[in-house]
Amino acid sequence: DASDSLTRLSRVFEKEFGRPLVVVSGYRSANYQQRLWDLGRCTDTLCAPPWFSEHQLGLAIDIFEATTEKDYLANRAFARYLNWLEEHAHLYGFHQSYQKWERVDAYEVEPWHWRYLGVSLATELHTLNMTYTEYIEFESMRKFWNLY
Ligand code: DAL
Ligand code: ZN
Repeated sequence: DASDSLTRLSRVFEKEFGRPLVVVSGYRSANYQQRLWDLGRCTDTLCAPPWFSEHQLGLAIDIFEATTEKDYLANRAFARYLNWLEEHAHLYGFHQSYQKWERVDAYEVEPWHWRYLGVSLATELHTLNMTYTEYIEFESMRKFWNLY
């Protein structure tokens, strides 16, 4: 499902910008994630530990060159792609996991990191302007208090 949706998203993206959506990282095994740590460039707010990365689910992708948020936004083309993705990616089931800093999502803002959640949930999160982390907390509170 994720792969088909990504193909469709990529086609629309290419129509819009005349260049494909480039995936620079997809599935990462625990060993691969460990190797990222072994390179010495990870911090607790940049890389998930092995076994805890959304990439290990096979449902998360990094698009374009993964770099810092500052570098990413300074690149005007990336900023344009990002604005467009923020408006359209949910229609194809993708959600930007880390958009509200580590106090909410455990990690720094990562405009390049998108996770496939399916159209229904991704659209709900987009409408509520919530990340998945916030939504899970919101849902458990709702259940706890037995609200609607
Ligand atoms: N950069 C994200 C948090 C990961 O390593 O999965
Ligand atoms: Zn990522």
